[in-house]
Amino acid sequence: MGMPGVGKGTQATVLRELLGVPHVSTGDILREAVRAGTALGRRVKSILDSGQLVSDDLMRELIAERLGQDDAREGFILDGFPRTQEQVKVLDGVLEQLHISMDAAYVLTAPEDEIVRRLGGRRVCPKCSEVYHLETKSPASAGVCDACGSALVQRADDTEAVIRDRLRVYAEQTMPVAETYRERGLLREIDATGPPDEVAGRLKKAVGKP
Ligand code: AP5
Repeated sequence: MGMPGVGKGTQATVLRELLGVPHVSTGDILREAVRAGTALGRRVKSILDSGQLVSDDLMRELIAERLGQDDAREGFILDGFPRTQEQVKVLDGVLEQLHISMDAAYVLTAPEDEIVRRLGGRRVCPKCSEVYHLETKSPASAGVCDACGSALVQRADDTEAVIRDRLRVYAEQTMPVAETYRERGLLREIDATGPPDEVAGRLKKAVGKP
């Protein structure tokens, strides 16, 4: 968990390698559906572009389907879900069905001006979802994905006005979710300031694999 742009995707990739379980990013799944022009993608495109949340009903369907897949049997890292109190209940239900319990909820924290800097410089690969930054993680060849050679793009929701809306939506709808996990004794706060490697070091320590 954590504010838009705090580095959830960047750090989830590190955890995926470390733990050998899939990284399930609901944002990536939705963006892929938009890119592929599926029925789901057509339904959610304008919602994603505006920085609002997709409905809980739709997310319920999407997450149950994804977590039911074979590669998630031994566990998974969730990135961007749950984001509302209703989604907490959805996740509780899915975990119960799968006989899996949650180890922890990690929340990454950084000051808002750092968030704006990270999102302003972000470039992403529309094909393989690899994430770059103009200052802190530039590709070997400007504007081209190192992993698959596609042209990098700026996300439609990384404009100043939409970033402000996403931060507001996070404060109103997702911060209470963190409190729920704090009350359950599952919340671990990770200082996400400093370079990605430093943040990864703190996270690895928190998951007990320094
Ligand atoms: P989603 O894709 O989840 O967006 P988000 O939460 O806004 O998070 P981001 O992907 O923007 O950022 P991040 O924290 O992963 O940061 P990153 O690692 O890229 O969701 C998008 C939309 O989908 C939502 O607005 C909503 O519409 C919909 N949606 C998704 N899930 C939903 C749900 N459950 N319910 C309803 N709707 C849902 O890093 C950012 C940049 O900073 C990168 O350029 C990176 O290279 C750089 N960076 C990272 N770490 C560092 C560091 N330590 N120092 C310097 N730079 C860094």
